[in-house]
Amino acid sequence: MAYTPIKKLLLGITGGIAAYKTAELVRLLIKQGIDVQVVMTKSACQFITPVTMQALSGKRVFTDMWDSSIDNGMPHIELSRQADAILIAPASADFMAKIVHGGADDLLSTLCLARECPLMVAPAMNRQMWENPATQRNVAQLEQDAVFILGPDRGEQACGETGMGRMLEPEQLLAMLDVATTPKLLAGKNLLITAGPTMEMIDPVRAITNISSGKMGYSIAQAAWAMGAKVTLVSGPTALTPPPDVETVHVVSAGEMHDAVMARVPLQDIFISVAAVADYRPASPGTQKLKKSEHTLTLELSPNEDILTKVAAMDHGPFCVGFAAESEQLIEYASQKRLRKQLPLIVANLVDESMGKDDATLTLIDDRGDHPLPQASKTVLAHLLLQHVAGMLEES
Ligand code: CTP
Repeated sequence: MAYTPIKKLLLGITGGIAAYKTAELVRLLIKQGIDVQVVMTKSACQFITPVTMQALSGKRVFTDMWDSSIDNGMPHIELSRQADAILIAPASADFMAKIVHGGADDLLSTLCLARECPLMVAPAMNRQMWENPATQRNVAQLEQDAVFILGPDRGEQACGETGMGRMLEPEQLLAMLDVATTPKLLAGKNLLITAGPTMEMIDPVRAITNISSGKMGYSIAQAAWAMGAKVTLVSGPTALTPPPDVETVHVVSAGEMHDAVMARVPLQDIFISVAAVADYRPASPGTQKLKKSEHTLTLELSPNEDILTKVAAMDHGPFCVGFAAESEQLIEYASQKRLRKQLPLIVANLVDESMGKDDATLTLIDDRGDHPLPQASKTVLAHLLLQHVAGMLEES
């Protein structure tokens, strides 16, 4: 089964204050071109109205099991048949308990029972309710039943307490949807990724950096998680939100990135070096802010260690993937880089077609030659790259 992004999502809303965040989720889903069919429980309608959801999704919202407007009179069968996946957000403790036992006394629980497609739930509740052994038993049972549990998060709660039980943010849920339709090609693998730029301080307020946004590395981290890998992300400074189920280590300089990678690399099966690591750093950064003068300022730069080359040279090291960002002679320079760094696989990309953008054009280069990927979003490219990596690992 290849990766197939969700096109039709059945979004179930149950009774919880986090239902207000689901309104934003619907907006984001529609913006992504996903067809959203909202189904709400009676309790959900106490928190947010079907009219709001109808306006945002552009479709009638279903709330009633006995809705006679569907031709065959069986909305539970019809609606679940049409969906690529079902997401319940927020999923209340009560609703999770109900689906654990196969309860079917309203439209949403009935269509969960009647589904053939994958089911995801995004729990949202007070921390004591989440920690209660009954809820934890239900979560474990849902996982055993191949239901995907997205979150919850830790933080401030509507009840005034702080703890585990907040629903994940709409952007995070959106990024995690792929988990339902992605084959688990990397199950059991440990994968380490570097992403983003590094920042080399000149003095306490100025730095040398580059235009990397981190989007490619973060997309790969998210896709690898969806494929079942245990992912660690070492990230330079970016404006991005780290994927929820990925251990993220924040660093600033190339030196810090080097140390963070070296400390974690012995346990890894795969290392993907996406970061645009600065090749040089100021030889003696000022401890105080440099004062301006009339004269030309000369900065002396010292070379940084090449993290990828060092990891690729390790005995029994992980399977290494490099990125080659070039502004000209793409395939030639990238192929040379692959051989110089002794990598099984390098990903070639032209700087002006990819750096800082949402889309990219990538060419994979391995021992067998060049494999150009179609121009696509970084999310889709991340999946295609990881499928290629999984294939190479299987053959090795
Ligand atoms: N890389 C690294 N450590 C460095 C420099 C680069 O790990 N100090 C990794 C990058 O993450 C990338 C690959 O090496 O996967 C190639 O990076 P790139 O900047 O394209 O190449 P360089 O080796 O720096 O060569 P040049 O800048 O001359 O193109």
